[in-house]
Amino acid sequence: IPSHTQFKEYYKNNCFQKDGKPFQYVSGSIHYSRIPHYYWKDRLLKMYMAGLNAVQIYVPWNFHEEKRGVYNFSGDRDLENFLDLANQTGLLVILRPGPYICAEWEMGGLPAWLLQKPNIVLRSADTDYLEAVNTWMAVLLPKMRRWLYTNGGNIISVQVENEYGSYYTCDYNYMRHLRTLFQFFLGDDTVLFTTDGNTDREMTCGTLEGMYATIDFGTDVNISQAFSRQRRFEPRGPLVNSEFYTGWLDHWGDQHAQVDTQKVSRMLGEMLSMGASVNMYMFEGGTNFGYWNGADHDNRFRSVVTSYDYNAPLSEAGDPTEKLLAIRDTISKFRDIPVGPMPPATPKMAYGFVTLTMVWAYYSILYYQDPALFTAYFTTRTQHTLLPGPSLIYSILYYQDPALFTYYGFMLYRTKLPRDLPEDTPLISPLNGVHDRAYVSVCGVGASGLLERDTTLVMNLTGKQGDQVDVLVENMGRVNFGSKINDFKGLLSNLILGKDVLTDWQIYPLDIDGAIASGWPQSGQRRSLPDPVRGPSDGPVFYQGTLTTNGLAWDTFLRLNEWTKGQVWINGVNLGRYWPKRGPQQTLYIPGPLLSPTQPNNITVLELERAPPHTRVLFMDRPQLNSTSGKTSQTTDRQT
Ligand SMILES: *[C@@H]1O[C@H](CO)[C@@H](O)[C@H](O)[C@H]1NC(C)=O
Ligand SMILES: *[C@@H]1O[C@H](CO)[C@@H](O)[C@H](O)[C@H]1NC(C)=O
Ligand SMILES: *[C@@H]1O[C@H](CO)[C@@H](O)[C@H](O)[C@H]1NC(C)=O
Ligand SMILES: *[C@@H]1O[C@H](CO)[C@@H](O)[C@H](O)[C@H]1NC(C)=O
Ligand SMILES: *[C@@H]1O[C@H](CO)[C@@H](O)[C@H](O)[C@H]1NC(C)=O
Ligand SMILES: *[C@@H]1O[C@H](CO)[C@@H](O)[C@H](O)[C@H]1NC(C)=O
Repeated sequence: IPSHTQFKEYYKNNCFQKDGKPFQYVSGSIHYSRIPHYYWKDRLLKMYMAGLNAVQIYVPWNFHEEKRGVYNFSGDRDLENFLDLANQTGLLVILRPGPYICAEWEMGGLPAWLLQKPNIVLRSADTDYLEAVNTWMAVLLPKMRRWLYTNGGNIISVQVENEYGSYYTCDYNYMRHLRTLFQFFLGDDTVLFTTDGNTDREMTCGTLEGMYATIDFGTDVNISQAFSRQRRFEPRGPLVNSEFYTGWLDHWGDQHAQVDTQKVSRMLGEMLSMGASVNMYMFEGGTNFGYWNGADHDNRFRSVVTSYDYNAPLSEAGDPTEKLLAIRDTISKFRDIPVGPMPPATPKMAYGFVTLTMVWAYYSILYYQDPALFTAYFTTRTQHTLLPGPSLIYSILYYQDPALFTYYGFMLYRTKLPRDLPEDTPLISPLNGVHDRAYVSVCGVGASGLLERDTTLVMNLTGKQGDQVDVLVENMGRVNFGSKINDFKGLLSNLILGKDVLTDWQIYPLDIDGAIASGWPQSGQRRSLPDPVRGPSDGPVFYQGTLTTNGLAWDTFLRLNEWTKGQVWINGVNLGRYWPKRGPQQTLYIPGPLLSPTQPNNITVLELERAPPHTRVLFMDRPQLNSTSGKTSQTTDRQT
């Protein structure tokens, strides 16, 4: 290999060596899966202008292989296009292809179909797991070869797994297997590395000879102590902080996270002056569109909010913040910053109020979606009983016909009341088997109540024998961190109503996104639709409306003030979840390129609990991510 295209750890000088010279990287994390592709170049250019020489990216496996064996590398999933744009911008790439990535992303990037083997031990040498990993890596890694620095591309190093030492298995055979696999596809001369948290246990279980051991930590840590821990595992070579936290994530119900700008820029300066290579996590966070957010499960299930703003130097909408300017200032003391102005924030528009109208109850989707799929599913499910025992219902679903299963979004469970219930009768989920929220209706009208994993295991029901009971179960995103990542969804155990175990369920996967993408409900194509909802405006109900933008297609932020909880689509694109009642996030980011400047834009809302009487939504020119602050959020320090 000629020395001008070399990149390696250089043990003698305790630094990396690039093209025969010592090299220090100043990098920032950006997730292409959280930014629409029209904006990739804009964000990368801003990162370059901030003085970075590299970006660090994750490859979410489940984003590219949603269904087993069906790969998608186009549009927002066009990884090579992203690499190309980074290369054109002059940014090197630190690639983190997993297979597990954490990232506060649905199931840590692992595809949900892995759970078709209910006892699979993820992130270990389990043969079913390794077989799936091998197949995926044999698709992904060969595509990465031409992008390796040694082959004329911009990828300087490749991370193997992610913070593996924090996982309970501590399986060296697994890490050995991955090392062999990565070397096989990428060659022996590619810099492979691992990243682990700042404890001895994590560094011990996560590191392996032949892969350079790096560490990650944020502003709450003593830098010299953290790097001396890395030194104990890697006595020579560059100091590397692979995730220096510029901010933090929010779960529903949290206070909005904030990390102090002065502290971030001061500690960055300290690390750079020690000669360390640093990646800032995140530099640009973006958005968990659709159902892609992850969740944590420490003592209870906590779902991550839609915004992944992260309080990062570039905001969710890609706008430079004060934090960015402070960081650029720090970097300029160590390397030359590109000349020229920082690109400005993209224009934002306050389009104002739009009044929505109620259209259909949630179950109307059953009459819209493909009747072939519906019938097949229906007939194989008619006689099912949910038997006691964890995951049983889930495994029945998978083994019978995995092709029909829906991995994300909503499932409808339907049965009949076994007897008259004139008085309030408790409906109980005794084994906490509702994953994650269930909206319960009798005779399809309104919601009688809801059950929520780990928090609400009982509600009351009344009705008559034979009345239809619908349990609409919402998947709130699979756990992405820790020992509970085998996160099955749906009803995992029986529901008990008074003295009766409910049986004879019909189970319907609801392809709401498929229906909306093909024009429903605006298109009005119906197949024997039931009556539109009457009566109270609560219960899971679809609303629709249109936004006319008078020739503009600028970024905007959607606020659903006084709405309760649900999902929003614009022109068929799923913007994510809203839940202003729980907060802290109050607005959903709408990238301008999703809007039509000339045609009316179709807004569809699935409100799961209760809409306000005004049924209005508001398009604003600024985000509100901090519900506790009332009027403004951190946007005050943005350049807009
Ligand atoms: C692949 O993903 C892109 C971006 O999300 C999407 O627009 C496209 O429809 C997908 N292709 C297929 C075949 O599903
Ligand atoms: C990356 O950019 C460099 C410099 O512009 C160019 O020479 C090289 O061909 C690019 N690599 C790839 C894989 O496109
Ligand atoms: C960090 O730890 C070192 C060694 O234990 C100590 O000397 C130093 O004062 C600490 N730095 C800070 C900022 O607390
Ligand atoms: C159910 O109804 C009973 C009797 O009306 C009441 O005491 C109880 O608080 C209710 N439980 C819930 C969870 O609403
Ligand atoms: C809105 O929906 C209608 C009916 O499906 C469709 O004809 C129109 O193109 C949609 N508008 C946009 C901007 O996508
Ligand atoms: C959120 O609002 C509270 C209350 O006004 C304020 O103390 C806090 O600094 C705000 N946080 C952010 C990140 O703006």
